[in-house]
Order: sequence, then structure tokens, then C-alpha cells
Amino acid sequence: NWSMSDFIDQQITKIRETVGDKKVLLGLSGGVDSSVVGVLLHQAIGDQLTSIFVDHGLLRKGEAEQVMASLEGKFGLNIIKVDAKDRFLNKLAGVSDPETKRKIIGNEFIQVFNDEAAKLDGIDFLAQGTLYTDVIESGTSTAQTIKSHHNVGGLPKDIHFQLIEPLRTLFKDEVRDLGEKLGMPSDLVWRQPFPGPGLGIRVIGEITEDKLEIVRDSDLILREEIKNAGLEREVWQYFTVLPGFKSVGVMGDGRTYDYTVGIRAVTSIDGMTADFAQIPWDVLQKISVRIVNEVAHVNRVVYDITSKPPSTIEWE
Ligand code: XMP
Repeated sequence: NWSMSDFIDQQITKIRETVGDKKVLLGLSGGVDSSVVGVLLHQAIGDQLTSIFVDHGLLRKGEAEQVMASLEGKFGLNIIKVDAKDRFLNKLAGVSDPETKRKIIGNEFIQVFNDEAAKLDGIDFLAQGTLYTDVIESGTSTAQTIKSHHNVGGLPKDIHFQLIEPLRTLFKDEVRDLGEKLGMPSDLVWRQPFPGPGLGIRVIGEITEDKLEIVRDSDLILREEIKNAGLEREVWQYFTVLPGFKSVGVMGDGRTYDYTVGIRAVTSIDGMTADFAQIPWDVLQKISVRIVNEVAHVNRVVYDITSKPPSTIEWE
């Protein structure tokens, strides 16, 4: 008669036994898994847990603030927030190939994390939000398996910590259940999937701060209107992209020559296949009107009506 409350009690006991009076480090990404690990560990060992949250400047609008307000403010986690935006943008300047961008972001992430970890003394354990599906995917069940797959949070293999992975027997929906039982807010627990490279792969081609701002602002409008329409849990993932070309428009009695924003919204079970979400026209219309009116340098909005396959969910 397995219940989530039993699981929490068992894990807390186990974590305390394992950790003793030693210290644990956790990399927070802002996603569901690492956040739940953080709250669970904090309940078990309090300030023996230190978390590092790398802000690569490629997060959604307000996301870093929200993570800090919730995990540090509400749950009392001890979080070192690293503002590494300039480091990332400098490394990415002039780069337009998607896989190269991914590699740069992934490598830089590891470096920033290691730089911060190196400043800390006496850490023996590294906590990770590895799920059961990660364990299966990586094809091994040894405690030393490091979550890397295509997640930017993948850590270097030579790191000399012992791993703590309290979620490794759970599926995603169980992690959400666990988060709710731990009292975490539903906007954190039900967060839609967000790629490690973040908005870095939603500005198509070369990344600039101006283009990131267009994606951030349009994405916020999309999220607000999806929420207003009550579609948050029906649509699996939804975001805007900036293809980076300009086209002609007309505003007032003037001609404009500005960017197009693409909207991507899909239904899916696991992201392996997906259908474009059949969002009602009036909701799409509202989103389109708001984006053109409220986001500078945008004069056109298009809706991606392809499924996966043949398209991917992300545009890069
Ligand atoms: P695609 O675009 O491959 O996306 O259909 C499937 C799911 O994976 C996410 N995704 C990524 N996640 N690092 C990640 O951590 C990545 O490089 C990456 N690329 C895609 C995507 O958001 C979707 O949920």
C-alpha cells in the first residue's frame, strides 16, 4: 500500500542516514525535478544543502526571480545564484549553428557550475534530479551514472562527489505528485518542459540581446493568454520563436519592416511525437494582436501547424 507520504518519510530517513553531518550540493535549473529534489533535501538536512542556480540569461521572463522567490523565499533553501548572462552571450556571439549553440551553452554551464562549486569547502555529495526514465535511457543502474542525455545540466564525469538521486525510482507524474505533497506551488510543479539551452534555441540563428527580448516578451504574452483561456494543462508545451527575418507590414499610415514571431504549441505524451495544438481561433487572435501591439519590432505572427514528425517541437 504505497503512498507518497510514506515515500517522503522513507526518503528523508534515508537521506539523513546517508549524509550524516556532511554537506550536499545541488544544481538548480528552475525545472520541476531539481526543484523537488531541493525542497525534499532541505526538509531532510536543512542548511547542509547548498544549491547553485546558474542564470545563463536564456531563461523566460521572470523565471529566475520566480525560482528564487519560491525556493529561497518560501522554502528557505540556501541558493547561490550566479548571474552568468554576459559569459554566455559573449561565448555565443556570432554563432548561428543550432548544435554548436547547444554545445557552447552546455559547456559553459558546466564551467560556471564548477567555478562556483570550487569555491565551496567540504562538499561530499552531489544531488541530482535523475528520474526513472533517465535511469532506463542511460541503460545502467549504477549509482555513478550522471544525468547528461541532452540536458544542459549534465555534469562532468570526473566530478568527485557521491551522488544522491532521491527521484530515481519515480516517473514524472509521481515527481509532480511528490512536489504537491511537499507543498510546492502548482505553477512550479506543473511547469511545462523547458530545454536546457533555453531561449538560446528559440532565437533562430545568431543570438542577440535584442532578439532574446522579443522572444521573452512574446513568450510571456503567450503564456498569459494560454493561462487565461484555461489551456495550461491541455497544451503540453507552448512557446514563441524568432525566425529572424523581416517582412513588410502597415501600421497607421506607415509601412513597417519588422520581425515575425512564430508560435509553437503542441499536445504530446512524452515529447517523442507531438501534434500541433488546436488552440481556438479567438485565443490565437488575442495572442497575435497583443504580440504585435506590445512587443516592439514585431509586425507579423504565424502559427506552426506541423506535427512531430516530420517537424521537431523546437525550431532548432
Ligand atoms: P524536439 O525539438 O527534439 O523536442 O522535438 C523534444 C523535447 O525536448 C526538448 N528539447 C531539449 N531539452 N536540451 C533539453 O534539455 C535540448 O537541447 C533540447 N532540445 C529539445 C524540447 O523542448 C521538447 O520538450
